[in-house]
Amino acid sequence: MIGKTSSINGFYKKTQTQRLKVVQDFSSLSKEECSLLQDCRALDFDRANRMIENVVSSFPVPLGIALHFLINEKNYFVPMAIEESSVVAAASYAAKLARHTGGFSVTTTNPIMIGQVQLKNISDGDHAILAIESAKQELLALANSCDPVLISVGGGACDIMCRYLATDRGAMLIVHLMVDVQDAMGANIVNVMGEKITRKLEAITGGRAGLRIVSNLTVNRMVHARVVWPCESIGSEVIESILDAYEWACVDPFRCATHNKGIMNGIDAVALATGNDFRAIEAGAHAYASLASNGYAPLTSYEKDANGNLVGELELPLAVGMVGGITQCHPVAKICLKILGVETASELACVMGAVGLAQNFAALRALVSEGISKGHMRLHSKNIAMAAGAPREFVDSIAKQMIDEGDISVSRARALVSERNTSG
Ligand code: MEV
Repeated sequence: MIGKTSSINGFYKKTQTQRLKVVQDFSSLSKEECSLLQDCRALDFDRANRMIENVVSSFPVPLGIALHFLINEKNYFVPMAIEESSVVAAASYAAKLARHTGGFSVTTTNPIMIGQVQLKNISDGDHAILAIESAKQELLALANSCDPVLISVGGGACDIMCRYLATDRGAMLIVHLMVDVQDAMGANIVNVMGEKITRKLEAITGGRAGLRIVSNLTVNRMVHARVVWPCESIGSEVIESILDAYEWACVDPFRCATHNKGIMNGIDAVALATGNDFRAIEAGAHAYASLASNGYAPLTSYEKDANGNLVGELELPLAVGMVGGITQCHPVAKICLKILGVETASELACVMGAVGLAQNFAALRALVSEGISKGHMRLHSKNIAMAAGAPREFVDSIAKQMIDEGDISVSRARALVSERNTSG
């Protein structure tokens, strides 16, 4: 096992400063990095104003650390940026259980992205495809002339494939340019390369180019995660019920959408914390799920092994980067990558795959036992107290009283706020 342990108990009981000290020790953060995190106002106007247009402020989201993750024998503290209560706790819980059986085993394919070029007005599809095949090396060289740095680190455009599609507005030839983008998410690189080869494609096919854009269905850039949850920790009844829940998701898109949402809770939160494009990841994940023979499938699967343990697997396309985009210019994203201690984009994808699987398991386990509301509403009770107008000094006690009474609602919180106001 590599490095310090990520299995820290009682983290939630510590103050912000104490928690940051633990993270500082685990991830060797500097004093400046810790103060930036402590400050909670880390994205100043000037930086934000350079990222998007018409900036008026920045929008803070809580940043939590999921603990206990052991992935490919390495310990990780996993930063998660998310507004939904219980997600970070659920991921940590599932990761803690998985340590008993050696943690998560995760692999990725090479980081190959697809750039698409749409060619219209093609009179002879077969002839056009043959022409592109014959010019393949020339087209790849042209694409690669855009990015010598990518070539120098072992990446670059590596293949071309054609698809002839019938549409209501006539046939179209869609050219796929495959690019090994190494540690980048790669959308920009691929878009530039697609644009670069367009004139040549038009010249050799006689077609007229339309869109040139990356595909977010990154079927050549996949992550596969596997983990065993021991029967002795979760019990055979829970395992049977999780298997039933999984089978339901397999045949019902209404349930499957929510099943997959639970997975994306984890993946998106790490994506956001590390400055990655979670919309691209979402698009790819759901498009991949819809390639299933029945129209839409779970991104995880479950079965029992010979010893009655629960084996969970996850497979989805995952295009994430550690260079380019805002990953290196958003001050908190940079620190989050440091906390994670990942060295490549593929390693980051491995962490996200493990978190997605952990998140899905934790949601299913809660759903088949006490139900989701208990844990969720427990943590959410403080939000409800605040939404009902509870002054800061009463938030904790009102939240606790609602939990004790089993009535966690805005109406109850309002009543408790006015009780305290009148008695105070
Ligand atoms: C809530 O954000 C996610 C769940 O709905 C996932 C699921 O139902 O599997 C709890």
